[in-house]
Amino acid sequence: MQDKTNILTDSFNRKHTYLRISLIENCNLRCTYCMPEEGLKLTPKSQIMTGDEVYEIAKTFVANGVSRIRLTGGEPLIRKDIKDIIKNLATLDVSLSITTNAIRLAEFLPFLKEYNVNRLNISLDTLKQDKFKHITRRDYYQKVMDNINLAIKEGFFVKLNIVLIKGFNDNEIIDFIELTKDSAIVIRFIEFMPFDGNKWNKEKLVSYDEIIKKVEANYQKEQVLRIKDAPNDTSKNYQIADYKGSFAVISSVTNPFCDSCNRIRLTANGQIKNCLFSATESDILTPLRKGEDIRPIIAKTLQNKFKVRGGMNTLEKLEDASLHTKNRNMTTIGG
Ligand code: GTP
Ligand code: 5AD
Ligand code: SF4
Repeated sequence: MQDKTNILTDSFNRKHTYLRISLIENCNLRCTYCMPEEGLKLTPKSQIMTGDEVYEIAKTFVANGVSRIRLTGGEPLIRKDIKDIIKNLATLDVSLSITTNAIRLAEFLPFLKEYNVNRLNISLDTLKQDKFKHITRRDYYQKVMDNINLAIKEGFFVKLNIVLIKGFNDNEIIDFIELTKDSAIVIRFIEFMPFDGNKWNKEKLVSYDEIIKKVEANYQKEQVLRIKDAPNDTSKNYQIADYKGSFAVISSVTNPFCDSCNRIRLTANGQIKNCLFSATESDILTPLRKGEDIRPIIAKTLQNKFKVRGGMNTLEKLEDASLHTKNRNMTTIGG
């Protein structure tokens, strides 16, 4: 039976206990699949949530059942008041984590450890310096690798996010998996998803099936173990027998996992999105600034949530540019 008393329960009885907060629209990389080529028109600073507003909104979500918060961007570690934001959020009864490109990670590791932000999801699409420069349009490969290794050495739980693009990095799948032989990290291959301005087409997609076929062609079948997924996981998890780490596929395009969705998103300019693919948003920053109650807006937004991918429940609909370009670009959603 649907729980109508909780504002975070949607009409399919999914409980939204995981809030993703995008703290900043800008990024210090320019990944081609994420940032539009012409760059971003940034929202004026006055319309971006202040640190205090982030805290106020987060507090409301936590009071109503959110138990996990992930900070995203753009790149969250380039926001100037990021430490104050984390210090405040750490006072809430919530598990805090962050998704970052790791460029500035080294200088934040002691701070993150102090505030129990122990789980780091890090974007890294290639293990080759020249390809890194090509896909990110910036030359930070060595810094990123050094910082990832430092985070692992310092005991952080690291997941690496790899957006696979056909003909670009799909020949590195096994190299990435081999990183899990001696290191307890998680490698997650992500199916390339369509957003406004990212020039998506199906030919560039490397599907869940193709990934697993490549893996099974390289290892013996009985070495490739399908391991248990955590509740509400976005990923299908695997391990090579006797390897310390594991790998996974995030198959939003070919095998969506919306039935167990527990995520709600807050953008840097104070809009809530009920789905990564939602074409509509609800402004909670303006009412918050007027001193109004934001809870009814949150409840209504979730009541309007579609069952699958913002209503794009078939591959045909997801492929339709007139539908997926109604969403934002990925840089300002934060993943
Ligand atoms: P965990 O909390 O560690 O499971 O991380 P996560 O996978 O939720 O977050 P992360 O920021 O590392 O994102 C990795 C990839 O998963 C990105 O491509 C995200 O866009 C995608 N992703 C994250 N949440 C969702 C979701 O709710 N739906 C879909 N379809 N994709 C998601
Ligand atoms: N498809 C899939 N994943 C994407 N990301 C950014 N753009 C896309 C896309 N078009 C990933 C980033 C980051 C995470 C938050 O989202 O690589 O790791
Ligand atoms: Fe949830 Fe939307 Fe992601 Fe599906 S696509 S899991 S409904 S956020």
